[in-house]
Amino acid sequence: MLPPAFEAELVDVIGSRHVVTDPEITAGWSVDWTGRFRGDTPAVVRPGSTAEVAGVIDACRRAGIALVPQGGNTGLVGGSVPLADEVVLSLRRLDAITDGDPISGQLTAGAGATISAVARVASAMGWAYGVDWAARDSATVGGSVATNAGGLRVLRHGDTRRQLMGVEAVLGDGSTVTHLGGLVKDNTGYDLAGLLCGSEGTLGVVTAARLALVTPLPQRVVALLAFDGTDPLLAAVGLLRRELPSLAAAEVFFGDGLALVCEQLHLPAPLAARHEAYLLVEAASTTDPSTELALAVESLAGVRDVAVAVDRARGDALWRYREAHTEVINAIGPPHKLDVTLPSARLGEFVGRVRPVVAAATPGPGVRTWLFGHAADGNLHVNVTGVEPGDERVDDAVLTLVAELGGSISAEHGIGTAKKRWLHLNRSPAELAAMRALKRALDPAGILNPNVLFD
Ligand code: FAD
Ligand code: MLT
Ligand code: ZN
Repeated sequence: MLPPAFEAELVDVIGSRHVVTDPEITAGWSVDWTGRFRGDTPAVVRPGSTAEVAGVIDACRRAGIALVPQGGNTGLVGGSVPLADEVVLSLRRLDAITDGDPISGQLTAGAGATISAVARVASAMGWAYGVDWAARDSATVGGSVATNAGGLRVLRHGDTRRQLMGVEAVLGDGSTVTHLGGLVKDNTGYDLAGLLCGSEGTLGVVTAARLALVTPLPQRVVALLAFDGTDPLLAAVGLLRRELPSLAAAEVFFGDGLALVCEQLHLPAPLAARHEAYLLVEAASTTDPSTELALAVESLAGVRDVAVAVDRARGDALWRYREAHTEVINAIGPPHKLDVTLPSARLGEFVGRVRPVVAAATPGPGVRTWLFGHAADGNLHVNVTGVEPGDERVDDAVLTLVAELGGSISAEHGIGTAKKRWLHLNRSPAELAAMRALKRALDPAGILNPNVLFD
């Protein structure tokens, strides 16, 4: 329950309609997308402006009450839900998209605008938004900045940080920083937008972002290539990156994941026979890239079969086999989701070793390991089903293997609460001390996502 004086102050700041305390309603905000992380909150507060966000944070700071910022709640590391009775600060009402500039190719999006909405406005301006992933209809700009979301076309356009021209945010001390001018060259001290990007709501609450747009590439060809193993697939990725200038995406999945997608979604198999490994390739350009793609594919060794889609509907159908992995694995989950990057030279070795490592850590007939991800970024999603949500042996074993091979324990989803125990595998004591010093400076009362990032 909220202290009555504090609740009255919140109501004063944002109005009683937007301070939700009914447990039947707040329950929906208290469980994450996977269902693995479930908590409880005394209130969900829904400010409608930056000034209201600042008012809420100031009230929390003075009362010493912690809060969890939440956007679309599609985060996959337990960072967006109240696991220690925090107040949930929902940013979804801040969804305006303004100040589109067709000359510079930029726009300003409120924290609550979805990635789909940004893409639509960008397209109406004659531009495109470069970052995209399957949760596009729910994930928000604020969440994507807070996690530095990557997605399906990082190899072409980079991650969210690369699109970020500036942010507006309310820091933990209650002050508002606004830097939304969108100047391409602007070396005036610390890059606060870059710092807030990937800070997972621990330093400040993002209220708006100035985003750079990219040239639209309307001519798109999608191909699904089948291989007998991971090594020829990875070699193909290297060649395609070098030989195919229009390469926009190179995504990997395996025979068991594809079979699960087909079974759960009642989809036909995309190729006549089952193969061990699949590479989904998208070539995109302003002119038709199909000849370039066909020549590049012909030059690859080890391709056992190919399906090509030249029209949008068939391209989307091929993409579905890859994008649907998250939802079908969740349907038999909840999974332990381990989102990792490996140096390209160790990726094949990791694929070979990770299943036995999982089996040794959590033996049992129902334990399954699913692999898929962004092959060109060295980013694999290791999902393990059939393990109790609280049993962290599998997380420990996989993340230790990743660190041994020189990889990162979080490629794109962040640390959240799920991986904070293992942050030391990637960050030295000096780095952790610097990060804690930043946290103390920008959030002196420790009220912003205190359960996230640091153990
Ligand atoms: P939330 O889940 O609400 O929050 C995520 C984190 O950001 C939390 O720590 C939260 O406290 C913080 N936060 C949220 N809003 C703010 C704010 N305004 N200010 C400060 N902190 C804030 N991610 C990828 O990177 N690549 C993918 O390919 C990808 N694919 C996905 C596919 C599916 C089907 C799903 C369900 C998720 C996928 N994700 C992917 C993960 C997720 O969509 C991203 O992490 C996304 O950026 C989260 O946005 P959100 O608005 O849902 O944030
Ligand atoms: C993906 O690439 O599909 C996402 O990051 C989501 C996931 O890991 O399940
Ligand atoms: Zn991903």
